[in-house]
Amino acid sequence: MRTGKIISFEGPDGAGKTTVLESLLPVLQKKFTGQVIMTREPGGVEIAEKIRHIILDVKHTSMDSKTELLLYAAARRQHLVEKILPELVKGNLVLIDRFIDSSVAYQGYGRGISISDVDWLNHYATDGIKPDLTFLFDLSSEAGLGRIQKNHNREVNRLDLEKLDMHKRVRQGYLSIAKQEPNRFKVIDASQALENVIKETQAILENFLEL
Ligand code: TYD
Repeated sequence: MRTGKIISFEGPDGAGKTTVLESLLPVLQKKFTGQVIMTREPGGVEIAEKIRHIILDVKHTSMDSKTELLLYAAARRQHLVEKILPELVKGNLVLIDRFIDSSVAYQGYGRGISISDVDWLNHYATDGIKPDLTFLFDLSSEAGLGRIQKNHNREVNRLDLEKLDMHKRVRQGYLSIAKQEPNRFKVIDASQALENVIKETQAILENFLEL
């Protein structure tokens, strides 16, 4: 029986989800009775990290959209089986930096692959497992790209180099998915000061996990 929970952190590039996750991890580790694991996609385990390398390499400009989608799905499958499922079986809490909704937003809405194909492939890769709760850190594409350009410590990946148009479609895509599943999604205004974003996220998490 899987008694653990998955909480995913989603949003356009530059929205700050990774920073929020990293600052809330120690807080949750103190308060949650089981173990709290933080992981990311694409990646999280060796095979998936190798796939990540292929997908995000800035030299791979000729990568076809469907190849890209399939690689994300392959990385997701391996990550799920090798790392996420065993934690869920132990009753632990898994916090993921990006999961199924990134494929819908980027490869579906962003690249123009049919949403039903992306949904089907996500379902195939995860055996239908979905997060129990998903945060969408929402930010305008202009502000997101501005933050990426200012952050010199961040590695620039192939998707960061996409044009503003694609980033705008990704943002709108995320907002549409969130509307379709209002019970799973919590939308956070990521244009606020970081400490407010963290506070708001923490309050929702504590309420959801009954901490
Ligand atoms: P990463 O450096 O982790 O970016 P971020 O810090 O913004 O999460 O790179 C992940 C990139 O991969 C990001 O641009 C989003 C993209 N992505 C997809 O396009 N589809 C997916 O299914 C996933 C998981 C990520």
